[in-house]
Amino acid sequence: MARLDVTEKFQGISFPGHLHTKDSLEFAVNFLFKDTDVLIVSYPKSGTTWMQEIVTLVSSRGDPQFSRTIPNWTRAPWLEHYYCAAVLKVSPPERRTITTHLPFHLLGPALQGSKAKIIYVSRNPKDVAVSFYHFHKMANFLPEPGDFHEFLDHFLEGTLYYGSWFEHIKGWISRTATINNLLHITYEQMSLDLHATIKKVSSFLQCPLVEAEVNNCVKHCSFSSMRDNNMINYTLVPNDIMDHSKGSFMRKGEIGDWKNMFTKEQNQHFESVCTSKMKGCALEFVWEKQDKEETNTEEQT
Ligand code: A3P
Repeated sequence: MARLDVTEKFQGISFPGHLHTKDSLEFAVNFLFKDTDVLIVSYPKSGTTWMQEIVTLVSSRGDPQFSRTIPNWTRAPWLEHYYCAAVLKVSPPERRTITTHLPFHLLGPALQGSKAKIIYVSRNPKDVAVSFYHFHKMANFLPEPGDFHEFLDHFLEGTLYYGSWFEHIKGWISRTATINNLLHITYEQMSLDLHATIKKVSSFLQCPLVEAEVNNCVKHCSFSSMRDNNMINYTLVPNDIMDHSKGSFMRKGEIGDWKNMFTKEQNQHFESVCTSKMKGCALEFVWEKQDKEETNTEEQT
């Protein structure tokens, strides 16, 4: 299935036809979840792959065997991708890990009444936009991104593939009150305290780990370890689908890389659109990593 130039439009949102078909999207929105399922939900470039790795490692008590031998799209397939049904058919039914980029308004009905454990992963939207821009350059199943300014406008308008970041996060987060079993984890939490995040995930999944097992998870899902693991760094994907000469999937892995891309004007515009679109939503984002000295100076003043 190549369909690199095909756009699959579903309920007003564009998806890459290389991975999605009408049938696969219908399959996703009508999916029958089991209470034992673990569902990782995110807007693209928010740390999805990182969470897939964390869930894999927590489930195997820090043993990297699965994460080193099975590609992430088989261990934790995207529900809406065309191959998902076939992968799930041969997955161990007792604990399935499933991933999705679908917005709540599309997947919510299928989850109604389900006790599946949902982990929503978010990231500050400036870094999401920058990461997504670079990913568009290497992923031949996504449209040419044009220049960054143009791309950022599309991001703010919500016209990129996968729809609006704002609608995605607001949709899922507003449902934390009505859906039991939803844990919200941010990319920045993972980055600032991976150890604590892993403990949080393990307790949410009811997989208590001893300290040595947590430490093993931390070790195997560090940026460098994941960058060197070809089951997770996407180097298994052929060049005509992801052009590895144009970038790496495991690109920088930092908080605040937007500062290297955004102009002052772009930042002002982004903030004004973001404030208006996120009105009424109490979320706060970590926009940059403060180094220790800076924090200490602030504390002293
Ligand atoms: P950058 O492009 O900013 O480097 P997703 O999996 O949702 O597509 O997100 C990909 C982003 O997560 C990329 O961001 C990638 O580098 C980052 N990432 C993946 N694993 C990571 C890790 N272990 N530590 C830090 N960042 C990680």
